Amino acid sequence: MRKKKTKKNILMLFLIVLLLVVSSYFIVSKVFLAKNQESEETMQEQQKEEPQQEVETPSSSETQEEENNSGLKIVDGILIVNKSFPLPEDYVPEDPYEPLNGRDYCSYCVTKETYEHFKEMQTDIEVLGLNIWIQSGYRSYNFQNGLYNNYVNRDGKDAADTYSARPGHSEHQTGLAFDLNTISSDFAYTPEGKWIHNNAYLYGFILRYPEGKENITGYMYEPWHLRYVGKELAAKLYNNGDWITLEEYFDLPSTYND
Ligand code: DAL
Ligand code: ZN
Repeated sequence: MRKKKTKKNILMLFLIVLLLVVSSYFIVSKVFLAKNQESEETMQEQQKEEPQQEVETPSSSETQEEENNSGLKIVDGILIVNKSFPLPEDYVPEDPYEPLNGRDYCSYCVTKETYEHFKEMQTDIEVLGLNIWIQSGYRSYNFQNGLYNNYVNRDGKDAADTYSARPGHSEHQTGLAFDLNTISSDFAYTPEGKWIHNNAYLYGFILRYPEGKENITGYMYEPWHLRYVGKELAAKLYNNGDWITLEEYFDLPSTYND
């Protein structure tokens, strides 16, 4: 009789312990689940709060300005030529596709790299039945001097400064830039102009003087003027067709002192 009672007691104790174990398991897992949910929600909140930046421009501490005593402005390996940063009078393109031989004006005296990428682009556009050619490539300091002065005599200095670079300030002297086809704002409406606007970046070229950026570049819209900067930077500046200028990207001015 006594034995039976002890057995019953042991069974009761076992059941109580089992009940305690099971209920504490449920309590612990519920707390854990709630904590997990909370941290997931916090992460989602944080993701929502982070602003989505379309094109990151490097801060001035991130850009590398090359130390040189040649008087060139080079940022992150990109030669900058604009109203604020001129070239020395005797600057000539590095490694030109055609030798200069003392010439002041030469379409194919652009750098080899520039020419090769132009050819690649020309081959691809030809497949579509379209045609591009270099209307104006390398121009020396002297040539630009004559050109600019002609425009000043014709239209006055203020007007000339909106569409023609002063000698030493033209990208054409670098051999990294050229004008395509017809030097006219109508070029933007031709099939070639439209294709160039949206595809030149694939070959490492940028539209150097975009529409609406006249106050930043210092020049009127030139849909025909391309500048070689390499594919990586060109892809960033393309910005889905809303071109970003070198001045904006590197936070640089483009103004004359007088
Ligand atoms: N038309 C561009 C600004 C030049 O003269 O180089
Ligand atoms: Zn040009």
